[in-house]
Formats: sequence, C-alpha cells, structure tokens
Amino acid sequence: MKRLAVGFAACAAFWACKPEPVTEPVVCCGGVDYPVPVLPDTPFPYSAQVYPDLWLENPAMNLFEVNDFEHPVTDAGATLGRVLFYDPSLSVDQTISCASCHQPEHGFADPSPVSFGVDGGVTHRNSMALVNLAYTPRLFWDARESDLSEQVLQPIAHPDEMAMDLGALTERLQARPHYRALFADAFDGDSSVTAAGLASALVQFLRTLPAHASRYDAGLALNFSNYTAEEAEGRALFFSPRTRCNTCHATFNFYTPTELMVNGLSTDYSGEGDGGLAELTGNPADDGKFRVVSLRNIGATAPYMHDGRFATLREVVDFYSDGLQAHPQLNHRLSELGFGPDGQPPMQMALTEAEKEALVAFLHTLTDTLDYAHSAWGSPFP
Ligand code: HEC
Ligand code: HEC
Repeated sequence: MKRLAVGFAACAAFWACKPEPVTEPVVCCGGVDYPVPVLPDTPFPYSAQVYPDLWLENPAMNLFEVNDFEHPVTDAGATLGRVLFYDPSLSVDQTISCASCHQPEHGFADPSPVSFGVDGGVTHRNSMALVNLAYTPRLFWDARESDLSEQVLQPIAHPDEMAMDLGALTERLQARPHYRALFADAFDGDSSVTAAGLASALVQFLRTLPAHASRYDAGLALNFSNYTAEEAEGRALFFSPRTRCNTCHATFNFYTPTELMVNGLSTDYSGEGDGGLAELTGNPADDGKFRVVSLRNIGATAPYMHDGRFATLREVVDFYSDGLQAHPQLNHRLSELGFGPDGQPPMQMALTEAEKEALVAFLHTLTDTLDYAHSAWGSPFP
C-alpha cells in the first residue's frame, strides 16, 4: 500500500508538515493519468447475495438486519461502489483509497494499529474490519453513526483520511468517461456524478460484503465434525461460563449490535487518551465504552481492540484470562459473579496453556474461507 509516511518523516515538525502533492506515475490505460478499472462484461451478481437461512430465519438476527430500502442493491450500483472503494482518486492527492485502510487481504482492516491518510494524517483509532454491514446498525468504535450512507462520505472529507472536498471530487470524477458510464449504468442512464450517487454506490457495495462462510459455518451443518480436537475444546470454552465470551460476542455475527461495553482494557481510558463513548458525551460514566465488534474474520484482522494494542489473538486471550483491569463500569459479564451491576472486581479466568491455545484455534475458525482479494469484492484495478 502506498503511504505518505515518507513525506511526513522528512518534515521538521508535525504541524509544519505540508508536503507538496505527490505526483503519481501514470497508472495505465490509453494515456490517461488516472486509474481505469477492468470489469467483467456481465457484472457480478451482487444483488443475488443472500445470507444463510439460519440468519434469515433467526428472530434475533432479524432485529438487526438493516433493511436499506433507500439503497436497494443493484449489480451495476455495487459495481460502481467497488470501483470507488478501490480508487485512490477519492483522496485529495490521489494516493489513498478506502482500501488503503480497509484491506481485503486483512478482512478489510489494516495490519497497522493506526492508519495513515493523506499528508501524514494519522487516524485516532484502529481501522475497523468491514464485516456484515447489512447486520450492523451502529457504526464506528463508539457507535456515533447509524446511517451507512452518511458514514461512507465521512472518510472522504476527513482531514486525516482522504481530505477531499466532495464538490471537487464529483467534478474530478465527472471528467472521467468511465465514471460517467458507471454512474449511468447504476442510476437509470443518468451519467451525472453526484455525492448522493457516490454514497449510494458505496453503501450497495458494502452491504453485500459477506462474512458467513467460515469453518464455523460449515461446522454448524456438520455437528462440528470438521473441527480438530483443539478447536472443539476452544469452542466449548468460548460458549462456557469459564470465559463467557459468547455472552457479549453473541449471535451468528459474534457481536452485540447496539450496546457499548467496557471490557476491562484499562482502569482509566480517558486518562490513557481515548475515553470511547465519553469522548462524545463528556460523561465520565461513559469512559471506556466501546462497541462489542464482530469476531468474524478475526484471524485476519490483527491488531486488535480500538487502539490495536494486541498484535495477536494469543495476546487477546492472555488479556481476558489474566489481565482484566478493574474499572467503575467494567461490564458485569466480566466480573467474578457474572451478573449484577457493572463495576465489580474483574473475573480471573486463569486458563491453562492448553486452554488458551484451544481458544485461539477456535477463533481462527471464524475467519471466512472466501478469498476477498480475488473475489467480486477485490480490487478492479490492474
Ligand atoms: C486513513 C484510513 C481510512 C480510510 C482512507 C478509510 N477508513 Fe473507514 N475507518 C477507518 C477507521 C480508523 C475507522 C474507525 C473510526 C472510529 O471508530 O473512530 C473506520 C471505520 C469505517 C466504517 C465503520 C465500520 C463499522 O463496523 O462500524 C466503515 C463502514 C468504513 N470505515 C468505510 C470506509 C469507506 C467506504 C472508506 C472510503 C470512502 C473508508 N472507510 C476510508 C479508517 C479509514
Ligand atoms: C463484557 C463483554 C465482553 C466479553 C465477555 C468478551 N468480550 Fe471481547 N470485546 C468486547 C468489547 C467491548 C470489545 C472492544 C473493546 C475495545 O476495543 O475497547 C471486544 C473486543 C474483542 C476482540 C478484538 C476485536 C477486534 O476486531 O479488534 C477480540 C478478539 C475479543 N474481544 C475476543 C473475546 C474473547 C475470546 C472473549 C472470551 C475470553 C471475549 N472477547 C469476551 C466485549 C467482550
């Protein structure tokens, strides 16, 4: 991935750093100086994407499926979204795409604890894995956004991410014949490039991005006869009162869709530099509250937690087993008792070495077998 860290390192001071816009080499295609996608003649059948019956028929999951009737998925709409997602032209100096921070090889997360945008910009938090967004009603680590079509425009304008004025962006794309054609295909023959169309296309692409074909899903149909003995032990632990992992990382998506929780990373998150929900509300009682994110694709999305503090799943398991911190709002599920008010002393799982390894082995089975980078959700640029 291209990074501007080089330009940044050459600067004397962070705030004085305004590197000249980088002139990118011509990428390809017929003498134009911008990337041109290579797309199949017949678009991928994004609109035919369906979730497994188990999800569709599950009453709990039904509650959280975000029915987006404003942006019904069409094959042409999601195709445009795919092109936009991978196109660095969306950033002011044309170096950073959505995929710079949401990399398909890493479950659409970033292997770096924080990510780098244009002009040496650094993100405040770890880039999130993009997973089952059709089932994700609250967005960002602190759940501050609930409308995906609002969300997708935010990184484009954000000064530390793509720093691009939306008006200038629509003008830039309007001047490129392939975008006029893709917009016309997506929106009833209308080739005007608009911010609303751009958002709708990105939403359509993201809503079809699936994560429900892991070895765990195969196991559901096989009574887990596809698991090794170690994975089976890890699964039993995950769903047991010894760990209570499943009480927060719940449902087929291994998450809690709406409630934010403190999982005991710190005694004082605000003092450590990121208070989570408290940063938004200013309420000290919200210190350390973060979303219980999905564990789908977890083997691919290291590093872990909102600040990427853990490099490996083994470190995560060591933390839950032996390192939970006392906190006034520590979620009750991680207290010794496991019920009652939040803020009780943390539980001590004290897992054995073999149990820790088993839990890690189980977590790896949640990673999808779909090779995103080489799928309809991979980059269309040569
Ligand atoms: C410079 C890195 C960077 C770029 C570029 C970037 N993102 Fe993100 N993205 C992040 C970070 C960091 C977060 C988490 C921010 C937070 O919670 O405060 C995030 C969160 C998200 C989420 C929320 C996921 C969830 O489960 O809540 C979505 C969706 C998303 N980004 C989509 C996009 C799209 C679409 C683009 C391109 C238009 C994009 N991102 C560009 C870094 C980036
Ligand atoms: C009380 C609810 C709760 C319980 C119980 C719980 N978690 Fe979590 N988990 C969370 C929250 C909240 C986060 C995000 C915290 C943050 O980043 O500040 C999280 C984050 C994670 C992450 C990192 C996800 C990512 O994308 O970075 C992993 C892995 C994880 N938990 C695994 C587990 C395992 C394994 C167990 C059982 C040993 C467990 N969790 C038990 C609430 C919980």
